[in-house]
Amino acid sequence: MRDLRVSITDRCNFRCLYCLPETEEAANFYRAKFDALRNPQPFALRPIRYDWKPRSELLTFEEIERIVRVATGLGVHKVRITGGEPMLRHGVETLVARLAAIPGVEDLAMTTNGQLFAAKAEALRAAGLRRVSFSMDSLDPANFRKLTGRDGLAEVLAGIELAQRLGFHPVKVNAVVIRDLNDHELEALAEFGRQRNLSFRFIEFMPLDSSRAWQRELVVPGREILARLQARFDLRAVDASGNPAETARRWAFADGRGEIGIIAPVSEPFCGHCNRLRITADGKLRTCLFSLGEHDLRPLLRGGGTDADLAARLVELVAHKEAGHRIGQPDFVQPARTMSCIGG
Ligand code: 5AD
Ligand code: SF4
Repeated sequence: MRDLRVSITDRCNFRCLYCLPETEEAANFYRAKFDALRNPQPFALRPIRYDWKPRSELLTFEEIERIVRVATGLGVHKVRITGGEPMLRHGVETLVARLAAIPGVEDLAMTTNGQLFAAKAEALRAAGLRRVSFSMDSLDPANFRKLTGRDGLAEVLAGIELAQRLGFHPVKVNAVVIRDLNDHELEALAEFGRQRNLSFRFIEFMPLDSSRAWQRELVVPGREILARLQARFDLRAVDASGNPAETARRWAFADGRGEIGIIAPVSEPFCGHCNRLRITADGKLRTCLFSLGEHDLRPLLRGGGTDADLAARLVELVAHKEAGHRIGQPDFVQPARTMSCIGG
């Protein structure tokens, strides 16, 4: 395990249709799909329960720093700060500075939806953040609102530009691709990535949404995404043999600017070489995005456990990491928590 993802808040200012769908527009999209597929169950959007974790349940910065320090002692060297939306955690730049100062942290990154990024960008850069990933699923303001439940495209675009200007590198942009929702924008998104010299990632829709509305028919398989992009662009495979845990199939544009990656966890699972661990904002270790069980680290952290105890616990839990997710298997059960709690 080399890659630790730390969610620092379960709150979010967006309501993405594939994560925390809330709007009538999102409900209508799913309802139409359910009807078209003659799904026996009528679709109803589950209301989001705003049971955000109270502050007392969240790990403090000291506790996060301690987990990261102990984990790096065991071989973790990549750390990604996620949420929810990490910009919503007060003092996030202070946490970044503390994590950047840990000698074993060779690679510190953050995932953000970008809407509130600009206000913090310089402080985050000064604190030692090197890399940032944005989520942007559409370049069309109306479709952006349908996908995220909010108006915010202009702010996200400005955030991406600012990140590049401040020297964050690479600046990644993730787009979750959903059939009949934003798949018509594939080429435009890739072209945007090419022109802006971005690392653009297309991600298959995974069953991690709060409304349990995921259906396989909504997934645009990675190979279809690739075929579409190959028809439009001259793409050269990027050799990623140096990183066996790479989740994306990467492609460079022949004219040399930017790169795209296709992440296909549903149609082409890469679980076998996964090297990631996740910590939720309330201190639960998850050994897989799709874990059905979580392991609370707070009793150890708050009950006088030593660093050695914590290390032993991490080693013990990692030994039981799942062999892989079971999407598509008859016994698949969607985890209770959504991406907004787990962290991408
Ligand atoms: N399927 C695929 N990707 C998702 N993300 C959030 N929910 C899902 C889902 N159900 C993505 C976000 C973000 C990253 C952390 O995970 O768009 O870019
Ligand atoms: Fe969207 Fe990420 Fe917020 Fe979920 S956590 S609603 S994916 S921005």
